[in-house]
Amino acid sequence: MNNYLKTKLGKLELNNPVTVASGTFSYEYNEIYDISLLGAIITKTITPQRKIGNPTPRLVETQAGLLNSIGLQNPGINDFLKSEIIKYEHIKCPLIISFSASTIDEFIQMLKTLENYSLLDNSVKISGYEVNVSCPNVENEGLAFGVDAKTVFNLTNKLSQLTQKELIIKLSPNVTDITQIAKAAEDGGATSLSLINTLLGMSIDWQTGVSHIKKGIAGYSGPAIKPVALGCVYRVANKVKIPLLAMGGVSTYKDVIEFIYAGASAVAIGTAQFPEPDLPYEIINNLNEFCEIYNHNLLKLKGKVRF
Ligand SMILES: Cc1cc2nc3c(=O)[nH]c(=O)nc-3n(C[C@H](O)[C@H](O)[C@H](O)COP(=O)(O)O)c2cc1C
Repeated sequence: MNNYLKTKLGKLELNNPVTVASGTFSYEYNEIYDISLLGAIITKTITPQRKIGNPTPRLVETQAGLLNSIGLQNPGINDFLKSEIIKYEHIKCPLIISFSASTIDEFIQMLKTLENYSLLDNSVKISGYEVNVSCPNVENEGLAFGVDAKTVFNLTNKLSQLTQKELIIKLSPNVTDITQIAKAAEDGGATSLSLINTLLGMSIDWQTGVSHIKKGIAGYSGPAIKPVALGCVYRVANKVKIPLLAMGGVSTYKDVIEFIYAGASAVAIGTAQFPEPDLPYEIINNLNEFCEIYNHNLLKLKGKVRF
């Protein structure tokens, strides 16, 4: 692998810009390819308590994308640190822990617990955090944290004082103006941003009138959302100085290049891994070839979209 793919995400040096989107990847992919070759690994979102997730059916393929309402199923922070994180012991790329909570205090507690873990003599190194602010805020009428700029500023401000590690705030596209939320996170001390989380959507059986998803509204992802994600990345890149980790519909190396043109420093692959688990590996190789052919660093293209 040459140096053409090296990139930086805030404090992190990545060997290449290809990472995996939270909730769409698990350690077991290591049986298919060497996951240490990824630019970074982002875990499934962890919450203070165990979550069994939403009732099924909670996943449906639509004409142009995937709808999911998994509901952050996860073992909870304690079990995660006790028995799951250890799987990443031999990983050589940066490990980013995604977490979420329902109150600001809970977010703080989560970060403190993760920071304490790092202070102990553990064999797994946590390189940074991705804060999932799409969870309902029980202190604010259940509206997602990420929809309110003031809340995002307050939360980021508190979290940024507790860690020296990479602090990524993950933005939701389900807001009036994503650039305002991005700026609030930057002002609060985020060292990078990731975007976008899923769009809100629904799917109904026209013959029976029954929702394909038990809970009704779900998160929409996959190639169909790429233009929305590109638009968000372009707009946010023009508003903030901190680096962006882009995601939303990436399924080929060409998509990665498009996101870099829009202003991203790194990219995460999500839904497209389901039918093709070794896709990130293939994309890294394709990007490598692309850079060798053109003899340039990929990041030279960052933000260079032309009109
Ligand atoms: C099945 C599924 C589970 C997801 N779980 C999470 C999660 O736990 N935390 C999170 O921040 N995003 C989660 N996401 C959102 C993805 O990380 C990503 O932001 C989104 O799917 C857009 O990328 P994509 O179109 O490449 O999938 C999930 C997406 C899917 C499809």
